[in-house]
Amino acid sequence: MGEKRLSEVIDLLLSKHHKYLRDIMPVVNKDLSSFKKLSLGPELKGKMDSVDEIVRDVDMDISQHLMKEENILFPTIIDMEEAVLSGKTDGHMGCGAEGPINQMKYEHDIIKESLARLEKDVKDISEMVQKTEHKDKEFVRNFIKNSLEMKEDLLLHIKIEEENLFPAAISLESKMGGGPGY
Ligand SMILES: [Fe+2]
Ligand SMILES: [Fe+2]
Repeated sequence: MGEKRLSEVIDLLLSKHHKYLRDIMPVVNKDLSSFKKLSLGPELKGKMDSVDEIVRDVDMDISQHLMKEENILFPTIIDMEEAVLSGKTDGHMGCGAEGPINQMKYEHDIIKESLARLEKDVKDISEMVQKTEHKDKEFVRNFIKNSLEMKEDLLLHIKIEEENLFPAAISLESKMGGGPGY
């Protein structure tokens, strides 16, 4: 009782966290490329190259990940929930939820590892920049702020999926007759 429908959790993930990521990634990328055009000392330049690589990896990993959730996993969960609510629990739902969930968790682990490296590098950059005149540039401040905010939002997003949506979907699937192939 009082628990959110999984379709509502999915709506929240899509309208808040998926949308946020698609909005913020181009902004982070744009500020990062302006930042990289500054003349930076070798230490700061090394950190910026590292961050650039991490942001590119996260951007690529996350855009494919969001599409898989939106096109495969989330529609399957919504269909399963509809079936359970209407008492039609005798069929299997496409590829089932468990396989895609395991794949999404695997991808989350890769993304979380990149985010931990990003956080460390951005904090180092933030300290280095404090000693230069670059600290006053708007895109430098925005890059530091937005990339750390993006990391926080993405970690919360992953937590909602892993601690709320995925376990509930697995338990729903068990009501469907144990997933595909059984
Ligand atoms: Fe997601
Ligand atoms: Fe995810």
